[in-house]
Amino acid sequence: MITRSVVLAAGQGTRMRSALPKVLHPLLGHPLAWHALQAARQATSSQPVLIVGHQAELVQQALGDAAQYVVQEPQLGTGHAVLQARQSLSGQSDFVLVTYADMPLVRPETLSGLIEAHRTFSGPITLMTVLADDPRGFGRIVRDSNGHVNAIIEEAQATPEQLSIRELNTSIYCFTASWLWPALDKIPLSPKGEYYLTDLVAIARQAGLPVQAFRSEDTVVLLGLFCGVVVGVGVCGVRGRINEQWMLASVTMVDPATTYIEPEVSLERDTVIWPNTYIKGKTHLGEACTIGPNTIITDCQVGNNCTILASVLEGSILEDGVQIGPFGHLRNGSHLAQGVHMGNFGEVKNSYLGPGVKMGHFSYLGDATVGAGTNIGAGAITCNYDGEKKHPTEIGEGAFVGSDTLLVAPVKIGEGAHTGAGSVVTKDVPDNTLAAGFPARLIRKLEKSD
Ligand code: UD1
Ligand code: MG
Repeated sequence: MITRSVVLAAGQGTRMRSALPKVLHPLLGHPLAWHALQAARQATSSQPVLIVGHQAELVQQALGDAAQYVVQEPQLGTGHAVLQARQSLSGQSDFVLVTYADMPLVRPETLSGLIEAHRTFSGPITLMTVLADDPRGFGRIVRDSNGHVNAIIEEAQATPEQLSIRELNTSIYCFTASWLWPALDKIPLSPKGEYYLTDLVAIARQAGLPVQAFRSEDTVVLLGLFCGVVVGVGVCGVRGRINEQWMLASVTMVDPATTYIEPEVSLERDTVIWPNTYIKGKTHLGEACTIGPNTIITDCQVGNNCTILASVLEGSILEDGVQIGPFGHLRNGSHLAQGVHMGNFGEVKNSYLGPGVKMGHFSYLGDATVGAGTNIGAGAITCNYDGEKKHPTEIGEGAFVGSDTLLVAPVKIGEGAHTGAGSVVTKDVPDNTLAAGFPARLIRKLEKSD
């Protein structure tokens, strides 16, 4: 059985007073819609079709290959939206799953459950419903005296009796494709001038076909996000779910409420994450690391037993046993070999630091290669940029770069070489050689008023 999915995102989302389309609001590193698309993709093992309309180009640009796109213009309702996918999907699948792009918390398992329920059902529609005490705004599920689903009535059209129904339409459906595609033509125009997808239920019943309701307990997930505080609730929900998954895999989070792990991050056991920490992009953290508090790590590969305290790391590789912080900034293209210590207020960019390199305090290394066991003294920096070009610095193994050394690149410091405190090194220093210079000179005697 092949299932394809249609995810709706063409509407304007008028309840969200923002210039950015609702489905593009960021939620743990991805637009809101990305999460709904991932769930649809996982449940169907196929590329979802996203129906776009309002700010279509922006939406497509932001979501890239997360979906295949069909434009709905003008937007004439949810039934009309699904109809737009007919040309691309007709004859392509046995079932069609329909969901909304603004439900980022829907689990793939919930969608698979619906598809599974439809597999063993003889009728053309299985729809997901929930029971809620506050049914405001949602379509009501109308059943006949035998309890069979007869229709979905939108609030605007409901009688007072129907308004009191607590079983609601979540707008997640699984249809039999061969029935759905022609049936879409039969949807009548509503008094509001829209084609409601919900009318398909009555159309099936009028043809004597049964409709199945698949009740979910997940009310907050399915209905909660329509109530206004979309992004906040969504971030909380997705964050909580991801954190729970990692905690069950033996990662410790001291304060899960302030720990943000993006969906494509992977973590290994016995790592401890302290509060106010964001782990982003395609980061991998090895075993038994201590991360945070107050740390942001983006797109890094981190080995085992590393300690990162109050630091910001981007696009870098850390081998086992690396220590960074407090207040380190590791920038793109850096590689810290085993046991490197990058202490207070250090910054490293596009550099390789060999095993056991120590740079304890206030240093900057950019475009540098540093041999094993070398010591970088407090305040030493590479002057790697001459205002036009970046230049490399090479420092050999076992070297000792004295405090406040300025390494004016391009420059090489040999193996075992030393530089004196405050030296300004403009020429290569051979192996096992001491270089020092630029001592302060006495200029004048100061007056009391100076
Ligand atoms: C819809 C259902 C309602 C259900 C509720 C659950 C209909 C007629 N009603 O109401 O029974 O309880 O969802 O949330 O389906 N969209 C398009 N193109 C359009 C119109 C809408 O893509 O022309 C998209 C919107 O971007 C949005 C979704 O469809 O993602 C819902 O549209 P909306 O008109 O707001 O339906 P609801 O009032 O939520
Ligand atoms: Mg509406």
